[in-house]
Amino acid sequence: MNTAETLYEKLKNVESGTSGPYTLERCRRMAPLVDEINRLKKAQNAVILVHSYVHPEITCGVGDFTGDSYQLSKDAKATTADVIVFVAVRFMAETAKALNPDKEVRIPSRLNGCSLADCITGADVRRLKAEHPGFAFVCYINTSAEVKAECDVCVTSSNVYDIVQRIPSDRIYFLPDKLMGENVQDEMKRRGVAKDIRLYEGNCYVHAEYDAERVRRLRARHPGLKILSHPECCREIIAQSDFVASTSGLMDYMRADRTGSAYLLLTECGLAARAQMELPGKVFIGPCFECKYMKSNTLEDVRRVLASPEPEDIVEISPEVRAGALRCIDNMFKYAEQVKD
Ligand code: 13P
Ligand code: SF4
Repeated sequence: MNTAETLYEKLKNVESGTSGPYTLERCRRMAPLVDEINRLKKAQNAVILVHSYVHPEITCGVGDFTGDSYQLSKDAKATTADVIVFVAVRFMAETAKALNPDKEVRIPSRLNGCSLADCITGADVRRLKAEHPGFAFVCYINTSAEVKAECDVCVTSSNVYDIVQRIPSDRIYFLPDKLMGENVQDEMKRRGVAKDIRLYEGNCYVHAEYDAERVRRLRARHPGLKILSHPECCREIIAQSDFVASTSGLMDYMRADRTGSAYLLLTECGLAARAQMELPGKVFIGPCFECKYMKSNTLEDVRRVLASPEPEDIVEISPEVRAGALRCIDNMFKYAEQVKD
């Protein structure tokens, strides 16, 4: 099979969100670009890390590793490539840079945002620390390197509950996602863990869109429907969910589930698109919302950062910020590995 046919075989079932539909003709138009990116990648000893939310032609056409924030951080830590192209959002690329100061990390998106990472600065954290003496500061990985440098440990959606339970402090300031923080409070109660957990006022504008009442109506209308959610959704949705996990955790769940149930997948549309590529036959009910930041990455952007990167495509962090952010990220790996023991 040539590149166009290979792409079409992988992409033809994608219906979720606005990326599709993928016709053979569209795949023929994309194929030369995909071939060029793969040539450039090899020539530069580059690795392309891709979050599941980006356009599916990037995941299946040029990506080397696709995963959630935690898995991609581990992939970034382990790579022997000289160049890392991080097709996602800026905070993920900054994490890769903190882990790899001697490698060049490039980010294709020029939008460079995330509604969570953009809602808090290092100065905000310094003020909050002064107002909350004796509290451990736990940040979601969806924060800038500058914010991580001010915090004790970061977490991802795949390890947040276990790490908050494990850290040896019963007073925790969790930032910046208030909805995830409320889910942490509920989960600690469920586990019988008594901790005073204070929260910041941020949220993810994509996951905050999902409405608990609508979820109830869809469940009533579709008997047997399984509700799968990301922990950035509100607590009323989490309470009705059959399974709650990071994007990779949700993929693993669907991969293992043989019940034939339809899913209401309450996360960014890209995950259903990925499932339609990798797990054809799964049925999805209901709406999904797209992240404009993740979707701002295009194949043309990936080629640009490989062929002729400009200064704004290359992630830089000052040595002081890097040292602080790395301590925070390394603490996450330390607690996350303990969780597995
Ligand atoms: P995951 O780590 O679960 O992939 O989540 C990242 C994210 O940005 C969710 O909105
Ligand atoms: Fe940020 Fe939300 Fe987009 Fe994830 S989906 S990158 S949390 S804005």
